[in-house]
Amino acid sequence: MAERYCMHNQSMNDFIDENFEDIRAPFTAGFELTAKCNLNCVHCYAKPDRNHQDFTLDEFKSIFDTLVERGLLDCYFTGGEIFTRPDFEKMYVHAKKKGVLVSLLSNITLLNQHHIELFKEYPVEVISTSMYGYSEASYEKVTGVKGSFRKFMNALELLQKNDIKYELKFVAMEQNIDDLYKVREFGNKLGVPMVVILDVHPMSDGSMEPVSFRLTPEAAFDFDVRDEGRKQFWKDVAKELLTGEIELRPQRTIQRFREGYLYPCSIANQHVFITSDLKMQGCVRASYRKFDLRKGSFDEGWTYLQKEFVEKKSTLNYKCNSCENIRFCEHCVANFMLAYGDEEQVDPFFCRVAELRRNFVEDEIKRLAKGE
Ligand SMILES: C[S@@+](CC[C@H](N)C(=O)[O-])C[C@H]1O[C@@H](n2cnc3c(N)ncnc32)[C@H](O)[C@@H]1O
Ligand code: SF4
Ligand code: SF4
Repeated sequence: MAERYCMHNQSMNDFIDENFEDIRAPFTAGFELTAKCNLNCVHCYAKPDRNHQDFTLDEFKSIFDTLVERGLLDCYFTGGEIFTRPDFEKMYVHAKKKGVLVSLLSNITLLNQHHIELFKEYPVEVISTSMYGYSEASYEKVTGVKGSFRKFMNALELLQKNDIKYELKFVAMEQNIDDLYKVREFGNKLGVPMVVILDVHPMSDGSMEPVSFRLTPEAAFDFDVRDEGRKQFWKDVAKELLTGEIELRPQRTIQRFREGYLYPCSIANQHVFITSDLKMQGCVRASYRKFDLRKGSFDEGWTYLQKEFVEKKSTLNYKCNSCENIRFCEHCVANFMLAYGDEEQVDPFFCRVAELRRNFVEDEIKRLAKGE
């Protein structure tokens, strides 16, 4: 149950699940090369970290090599903006030469022909890029930088023309919601996968500003019933529920819920995240508990994270472990902690979306039972 950070790495996740399910090792990892960025998005969780003293190339190589020794197979580089680092190429080539799969999360506005040549020589798994709006006005309402839309579109053309594998992400917020279906259609026409992020989360320091831009649960659910792919997914769920029990979350996740663990996911179990100031987190969101790799070794940090995340049990008050709507819910404990300073304080956004999905599926089951 490794971390899924872009659509592409699903096949590697399946491979890890099938072959190494019970092994605790950092098979996948995220590296935040820098929190600095050439854009200034309204919702960016990384803004509080812009003054980090970024790790040096040597520090990167050292922690990367340690992770490879401990089992690293697949990783992603993120920011901030990765292409603002003058030594990006050196880090990328180092990782590729170690035989690790590398995906890149980037706004691509600084991507140029030189990068294209680099990716031809050392193929990238996928470039996962965010399309913040369909028009210049809505895109730049999010990014806050004039001229950024044009740069984004030019870079997209460059990727397309040169057959570099990429996927689009859309972070749905009140600033750009009118563009959601336009971007979806644009992606379909290009034939690229697209991820829609509906649960905008707090900043790394717990600031709730980004959450104020989040859609209402009703508007988020609307996507489930208007988007053809999503709608079909929930209809299939209804069909399968009619014929027997199914689990929408991976088996191991459900098992961990039932055993009373607080974190059901891969956090600090088969995944780790390295911040740009060389701290180790369980995942990108869990910025509230870190181990400083400038003060201790990877193994010490890995042991620390095990106690803090993998072994942590919930209390009897925790609603999620006994929740009937759990199979319709994509809640994240790190979100709760960031927002409320309490891992067990449930965010009502997730509950309402789950309730709406369940109602939809139950109505669909009634319809199917009547033979409609
Ligand atoms: C931090 S960015 C780094 C990569 C690159 N700069 C970009 O924007 O694509 C990684 C992804 O996180 C998303 N993101 C940033 N802040 C977020 C938040 N508060 N909630 C949800 N997603 C967020 C971005 O929109 C982007 O898709
Ligand atoms: S482009 Fe990415 S890192 Fe930069 S401000 Fe936007 S979300 Fe944050
Ligand atoms: S619906 Fe609410 S209580 Fe149930 S699992 Fe989701 S967040 Fe937890």
